[in-house]
Amino acid sequence: MRTTRRLLLAGLAAIAPAAFTPAAGQTTVTLTHALPPASHYGVGALAFKETVERLSNSRFRVTIQRNDNEREAIEATQIGTQEFVITSTGPVGNFVPETLVLDIPFLFRDYAHARGVLDGEIGRELLARFPARGLVGLAWMENGFRNLTNNRREVSSPEDVRGLKVRTMENQVHMRAFQTLGALPTPMAFSELVPALQQGTVDGQENPIPVIVANNLNQVQRFLSLTRHVYSPAVLIGNPAFLNRLSPADRAIFDEAAKAAVVANRNKVTEDEQNGVAELRRRGMTVRETVDTAAFQAALAPAFQAYAQQFGAATIERIRNWRPGS
Ligand code: PAF
Repeated sequence: MRTTRRLLLAGLAAIAPAAFTPAAGQTTVTLTHALPPASHYGVGALAFKETVERLSNSRFRVTIQRNDNEREAIEATQIGTQEFVITSTGPVGNFVPETLVLDIPFLFRDYAHARGVLDGEIGRELLARFPARGLVGLAWMENGFRNLTNNRREVSSPEDVRGLKVRTMENQVHMRAFQTLGALPTPMAFSELVPALQQGTVDGQENPIPVIVANNLNQVQRFLSLTRHVYSPAVLIGNPAFLNRLSPADRAIFDEAAKAAVVANRNKVTEDEQNGVAELRRRGMTVRETVDTAAFQAALAPAFQAYAQQFGAATIERIRNWRPGS
């Protein structure tokens, strides 16, 4: 019996390399992101994969996996156990501190403003900071404007936020904002969010409409307020050792794929923003569309002062005052 099992294992070991090793001359790379395949990250990841495989005649294959702990995924990209990650900037500031300026509340007026800044000189300057931290910033993608959800009450003014236990991303800029509003910010990875809401460890969370829809957060949250309190960029990051080994022609393929990922991702955000609120209402959420944005901005004045000290008022104004063509 034992001999038969040993023979069987030996046989499997002999065929395993043939079955699982990629074809000669083929390289498989891994891309992770935190959301379901049909989400705005999922479609971006798929566009990246399809472009790489098409332009390289399948010499490169891309495996897409989900990891909803973004900090862990960035670390894995840094050390090279995976080649690419699409992540919100939530934890990115812990690696590339210069990006934290993008996480300031009410910094961007609308999507055109955010996309314009990120695609222009400012965005390129920030991507240029990644290599010093052992990462390559390939392209700015998008998560979207964040909105507050909770299980306690409708939120339309800063007073309504007072005392709410709110899960935030592991991001100092966001945490300072919620502290300033009198909430109790609780930073945690997205992977821990649903149990924390179910157990009442936190009352609420904040995320863009595409995330709330794709993750069915309506199942664990009752009230949605369209606070749009902060724009949440995402970024496609690569492992430097992998990218530096590529020939210029192959590197161009990955750059092209990054562009395709951005287009697919942003189109999906636009679509979800158009349909998502109605969908969440249909799923039973109580939606507060009008909030007192001016009051939120006034209540955040002490936080804005601290950000000006941390990042420099001129840097913030340069982003805030960006106009098309500037
Ligand atoms: O809330 C977060 O952590 C992020 O917005 C998410 C959902 C992981 C997408 O990047």
